[in-house]
Amino acid sequence: HKKELQVAIDGPASAGKSTVAKIVAKNFNYIYVDTGAMYRSITYKAIQNNINLNDENKIVELLHKTKITFTPGNPVQHVFIDGEEVTDKIRSEKVTNNVSTVAALPLIRRELVKRQQEIAKDGGVIMDGRDIGTTVLPNADLKIFLIASVKERAERRYIENQKKGINVTLEELKKEIEVRDYKDSHRKVSPLKKAKDAIEIDTTSLSIEQVSDKISSLIKKRIQK
Ligand code: CDP
Ligand code: CDP
Repeated sequence: HKKELQVAIDGPASAGKSTVAKIVAKNFNYIYVDTGAMYRSITYKAIQNNINLNDENKIVELLHKTKITFTPGNPVQHVFIDGEEVTDKIRSEKVTNNVSTVAALPLIRRELVKRQQEIAKDGGVIMDGRDIGTTVLPNADLKIFLIASVKERAERRYIENQKKGINVTLEELKKEIEVRDYKDSHRKVSPLKKAKDAIEIDTTSLSIEQVSDKISSLIKKRIQK
């Protein structure tokens, strides 16, 4: 009988987490869970409702009434808020620049972590985020921490934006990434941090295929144990 693992992939923005997580999930027929999309979704909805993004009680009240669901797909996983597709809307610059503020609110994290743990409880799951190995799945069978230089990550986002017709300079993207990295790793509740037992992979000069092959072979080893 093959064991269905819980795999945690953490790391800073544009380290390649979601791209490789989707490929690896497909290889093993596991569920892929993008926890960043959950933080983005509640941020998007709070903005839509004109709620002050520091008003924790109002946002958590909103979150309790909000259903966030995914439908699988590669390369794009579709995201829905109460049945409305928001896949592209949650990736806007406005959401990107405000999500770390909302993600720092302890009550928001408590609720989303609970939902993430529920999804992952039976294994067969690859979950990506910032605190999966440290907080959401502290007993995950495999923990990966992906990193890459800021320059490389800004360039990746730049190319992504060009494809979508979004015009933001490379300098601005670098700045955005640095600000978000700082906020994510300095917040009080479950900051971005490598778990003690996580395997770090620097993807700066690796291709998507090299990274996903590496992770897939680590999973195979764990399954055989
Ligand atoms: O795709 P990208 O790296 O830009 O970010 P994301 O994974 O979509 O996450 C967006 C933001 O959500 C992060 O910058 C964090 O502020 C927050 N987040 C978090 O706090 N904890 C997670 N497990 C996942 C995301
Ligand atoms: O999920 P996260 O924010 O960590 O990153 P991503 O959205 O998966 O990747 C950001 C961009 O980097 C995507 O456009 C990928 O195609 C690209 N990428 C890359 O060029 N080389 C890698 N080894 C991994 C990702």
